[in-house]
Amino acid sequence: MIKTVYGAGSLKGTLQLPPDKSISQRAAIFSLLYNGSSWIKNYSQAQDPQSTLRCVQQLGAVVKEDAGDLIIEGKGRNGIVEPKQDLDCGNSGTAMRLLSGVLVGAGVSAKLVGDASLCGRTMTRIIDPLEDMGAHILARNSAYAPLFINRVEPIKPMDFELPVPSAQLKSCILLAGLFGEKVTRVIETLPSRDHTERLLNLDQQQENGNKIISASLDDVIPEQSYTVPGDFSAAAFWLVAGAIQDDAEIMIENVGLNPTRNALLDILGDMGADITIENERMEGAEPVGDIIVKGSDLKAIEIAPGLIPNCIDELPILSVAMLFADGTSIISGAGELRHKETDRIMAMSKMLKAVGANFEEEEDGLIIQGDPEFSFQSAEFESFHDHRIAMASAVLSLKAQNECKINDAESAAVSYPGFWEDLEKLTVDS
Ligand code: S3P
Repeated sequence: MIKTVYGAGSLKGTLQLPPDKSISQRAAIFSLLYNGSSWIKNYSQAQDPQSTLRCVQQLGAVVKEDAGDLIIEGKGRNGIVEPKQDLDCGNSGTAMRLLSGVLVGAGVSAKLVGDASLCGRTMTRIIDPLEDMGAHILARNSAYAPLFINRVEPIKPMDFELPVPSAQLKSCILLAGLFGEKVTRVIETLPSRDHTERLLNLDQQQENGNKIISASLDDVIPEQSYTVPGDFSAAAFWLVAGAIQDDAEIMIENVGLNPTRNALLDILGDMGADITIENERMEGAEPVGDIIVKGSDLKAIEIAPGLIPNCIDELPILSVAMLFADGTSIISGAGELRHKETDRIMAMSKMLKAVGANFEEEEDGLIIQGDPEFSFQSAEFESFHDHRIAMASAVLSLKAQNECKINDAESAAVSYPGFWEDLEKLTVDS
């Protein structure tokens, strides 16, 4: 699908976001592990969480709907069944990596498949440690999905220092560890999103500046009954859209404000964005609030590499903010972006090139020469079938003098099915 987006004079309105993708997926998987019923409000209708939901059903969870809420009945760690068909993770790395941990822990054989993008993403980072824990995994070219996970003998617990700051890898090992008689410890040197340890209430300790998270059979899996907050990564598109558009005022309600996810708030704040947070509260284990953003004069910023894991999914849209910020902005230490739904450094470069931006592509980031007066007539963007690239291109299109075209625009539905309607709403309401 090709979308045409016109330059917008201003942006005004109030939005409700899609439910958080990471939390929805964990709600489904952790409900499978819980022995009993979990009542989940506001489960995401986006493609990735729906793929995860289908997989947990194949693994034995019974899912019912009540007025839009999900009631998921799990049978506990011992009740996971061998799926009769392949587990299709679609586009979702989170589904594939977290479910692999569960399957290895449970000693359940299964084949995990995914779309072309997911089958192009290396799985060695989970295969190697899971094999150290006793798994037998067959992968295409030893690295890529489809993955065949074979029944393992009792799990071998381990101490595992994360070689990359990845919440998917951390969660995968902890989930396998939850089935071990002895404790598995994951050592995290740079903080990544902590939904897994929060929602499973796992033991967390600080040691020499590192975080150590432990998991074993002794951990009681908590019931997963809560309201999933709005997705901060979806809010990010409107935070930047509002900040770079003169005369914008956007209110975004019920946004997840987990501090390991929302570094973008501080970054945009340091760039001079006019952002206010109201009505801060807790929803289950997660902080939530409403955010108001107004058109702002932005200045350039250099992102400290240590912050990258806390804004990893927001970097494509942040590059758009940098283009309209006064001075030279730098993203570095973000090599992980090359292993996302597409090589996002390449995709961000193509996006910036399409509008004639002044920037340099580095192996692990970008150097962007920003200008508050930057302007362009029109552009045609490739999404590379990547939801975040499609949405970042759309926000950039709002700054065009004329119209822009976005190819593969349907990919937004991977995390944000109502994105195009919300974009229209903000421009119409103006
Ligand atoms: C996610 C973790 C991140 C993020 C992805 C969702 C999760 O990936 O980019 O969109 O739900 O755990 P990595 O763990 O590979 O950094």
